[in-house]
Amino acid sequence: MESEISGLIMQASFLLAEGMPTIDGAYVLQIASRVLHLVSAMILVGGLFYLRTVLSPAGEEACFAGRRAVWAKWVGIATAVLLATGFYNFMLINSEAKAAGGKLPPPYHMLFGVKFLLALLVMFLLAILAGRTGAAERFRGQMRKWLNIAWLAAIAIVILAAMLRTFH
Ligand code: HEM
Repeated sequence: MESEISGLIMQASFLLAEGMPTIDGAYVLQIASRVLHLVSAMILVGGLFYLRTVLSPAGEEACFAGRRAVWAKWVGIATAVLLATGFYNFMLINSEAKAAGGKLPPPYHMLFGVKFLLALLVMFLLAILAGRTGAAERFRGQMRKWLNIAWLAAIAIVILAAMLRTFH
C-alpha cells in the first residue's frame, strides 16, 4: 500500500515536471520583457482607440481634456519600452532558434520588418498628434484621417505579431 502511494506521488510529480520551463534569471527577464511589451502596446493602442472613437468626434478641444502633455509623456514612455523590449524579444527568439540548430526562415524576417515599420508609423503619428509644435498643429487639423491610418496600422501590427508566433 505504502509503495503504491509513493509510486503514485512519483508519477504525479513526474507529470507536473514534464514540459515545465526552467525558472531562472533568463526566464524572469523573458517574461518581464513580454509583459512590458504587451502593457506598452495596450497603452498606445488603447489610447489610440479611445482618441479615435470617443474623443476626436467631440472636436479637437475635447481630445486631451487640457492634459495633452500627460498623454505625450505616456506616448514617449510606451514607445521607448516597445522599442527596447521588441529588440530584446527579437534577439532572444533568434538566439533560441540558433541554439536549436537552425534559424528563422526569411518570411519571418520579412514579416518582422513590416511590423517594425508599421510600429514606427504608429509611434510617429501618436507622437506628432500629441505634440506642441506648428507641425503638430497641422497634423491635428486632419486628426480623423491620421487616427484612422494609425488604427489600421495597429490592427495590421497585431495580426503580424500573431503570425510571427507561429514560426517558433
Ligand atoms: C505599436 C507598436 C507595437 C505593438 C502594438 C506591438 C504588439 C505586439 C504584440 C501584441 C505581440 C505579441 C506578444 C506575445 O505574443 O507575447 C508582439 C510581439 C513582438 N513584437 Fe511587438 N509591437 C509593437 C512594436 C514593436 C517593435 C517596435 C518591435 C521591435 C523593435 C517589436 C518586436 C516584437 C517581437 C520580436 C515580438 C515577438 C514576435 C514573435 O513571437 O516571433 N514590436 N508585439
